[in-house]
Amino acid sequence: MSAQRQDQGRRLAAPDIAARKGAEPVVCLTCYTTPMAELLDPHCDVLLVGDSVGQVIYGLPSTLPVTLDMMCAHGAAVVRGSWHSLVAVDMPFGAYEGSPEQAFASASRIMKETGCAAVKLEGGQAMAPTVEFLSSRGIPVIGHVGLTPQAVNVLGGYGARGKSVDEAQHIEEDAIAIARAGAFCMVVEGVMEEVATRIANAVDVPIIGIGASAECDGQVLVIDDMLGMFERTPRFVKRYDDLAGRIGEAARVYADEVRSRAFPTGDQTYRPKG
Ligand code: KIV
Repeated sequence: MSAQRQDQGRRLAAPDIAARKGAEPVVCLTCYTTPMAELLDPHCDVLLVGDSVGQVIYGLPSTLPVTLDMMCAHGAAVVRGSWHSLVAVDMPFGAYEGSPEQAFASASRIMKETGCAAVKLEGGQAMAPTVEFLSSRGIPVIGHVGLTPQAVNVLGGYGARGKSVDEAQHIEEDAIAIARAGAFCMVVEGVMEEVATRIANAVDVPIIGIGASAECDGQVLVIDDMLGMFERTPRFVKRYDDLAGRIGEAARVYADEVRSRAFPTGDQTYRPKG
């Protein structure tokens, strides 16, 4: 029986996800709205309200302009549309890096305003004291190492990480530091397979991969990528549908029918009952 059937009636919590190390893989998708949460929730363990909301919903060029207000609004929407999955909300750029106290203020606001059960933050060894500060004060934390998109200006792009021996070693040390600091799981993004294997063996919490191979304890994808909403998808994405094509086709048929007056028909028209 799958974990979601066994846990019916109770929302998954951080210890449930932590216990999945070496067990059933953790299923995670990003989610930003109530209707999508209702669709994804029965199939997922974790719904991640990612700061990818900036690009996916707002058409922003990166995650950097995303605000706490945006994360709170979308986090609350996803919690409203779900009952089973653990909902985790990303801490946006600038809301946590300054100090552990700043991170606590942001994370507690996110948890109060959304009802989510965890926050996610990017970074390695430099963020370990912050992860420790939050998790020892009642805030479950998901780490995020490897390719960290909020650091795009330092990294110089979104390419895979851990290609050199030094970089691979550094990412592994980041993961160990974040796990030791108390993160109950972590996203590992955009790393070579060998790096994922090393991290999976080095930490005792589940690592959830995105572009990080099958060596991880679970997987996450950006929902709009896997549904085929964008023309261009990164190599690590598998498209499970072509929603962009199907939406475009539906809109084309609708436009034709409006112009030819084939829509609406009597079926879609209010008339006195006869
Ligand atoms: O913001 C996001 O969607 C994420 C995932 C890519 C893990 O952090």
